[in-house]
Amino acid sequence: MAGTEGTGHGKIILLGEHAVVFGRPALAAAIPRGCRAEATFAAENRLSVSPWGVHVRADQAEPEPDRELLRRAFAEVCQRLPEGSRALCVEAVMEIPGGAGLGGSAALSVAAIRACHAALGVSASDDEVIALSLAWERVFHGNPSGIDSAMATRGGLALYRRGEPLAPVSAGGALALVVANSGEHGSTHAMVASVGRQHARDPIKTDQIFDAIAAVVQNGKTAIEAGEHARLGQLMDLNQTLLNTLMLSTSTLEAMCQAARAAGALGAKLTGGGGGGCMIALGRDAAHAEVIAEGLRTRGHDAFVVEVT
Ligand code: MEV
Repeated sequence: MAGTEGTGHGKIILLGEHAVVFGRPALAAAIPRGCRAEATFAAENRLSVSPWGVHVRADQAEPEPDRELLRRAFAEVCQRLPEGSRALCVEAVMEIPGGAGLGGSAALSVAAIRACHAALGVSASDDEVIALSLAWERVFHGNPSGIDSAMATRGGLALYRRGEPLAPVSAGGALALVVANSGEHGSTHAMVASVGRQHARDPIKTDQIFDAIAAVVQNGKTAIEAGEHARLGQLMDLNQTLLNTLMLSTSTLEAMCQAARAAGALGAKLTGGGGGGCMIALGRDAAHAEVIAEGLRTRGHDAFVVEVT
């Protein structure tokens, strides 16, 4: 890779989204798609993202709200580059869709940050990259737990708890997962805010749901380590039921989970923020996952298989 390039991983949350915002653990895995970015010296700090066709200048407000968010997030990073740094043009290529629960925004931030550091000759630790990515994510998501930034930077399969470093998990056997997009745009910001309102209204009930999710995550970690995939699948289904009680699923996501289970998936659930975006399903092996993915494609959904080890 040339000196001015950077990459960030996309991710799926196997178990524990949303509860992780409230201090419970979550299990996540990086996927072999994310974002690539390249930085070159320029007259002013600029960012362009393809295939979105978006171009922003850090110092020039955008009339369209989503573009303005992107500009502000990029400006947060530019402000935190070493004093006196030359201005940069960052060109990023997204390999995953945005608003799909795959950590696209964090992957973009990490790729852009690493590209800027490479161009400026800055050597930064992973923790420094994560801190910068979090500044970006706060603009996008309001109250990010930090799991997306940590996964985009470090990758792998890991347990995350807010404010703590990622704890790598080793799988007792490869996990064959289908990732399928509902095609509905899911706003993590809106979903996290909705769960926050539910928690403010009824903290006792909501904390009980988060505690149940935390138990699912701890059991899921043990199941993954022991290679007990049938048990992991049951835990994914249980997690989906709990996410449903927080009103995070949609009828499309439910239908996709049902279709995957009907095709023999060991378990299925939404992944990430919900309210649209992607679901994941666990196959018995890669060939079975491909059959499940094909079934979801015939229903009109983009789907691909990821093997997590
Ligand atoms: C988003 O990938 C995961 C959420 O739990 C939000 C967060 O942890 O910041 C929904």
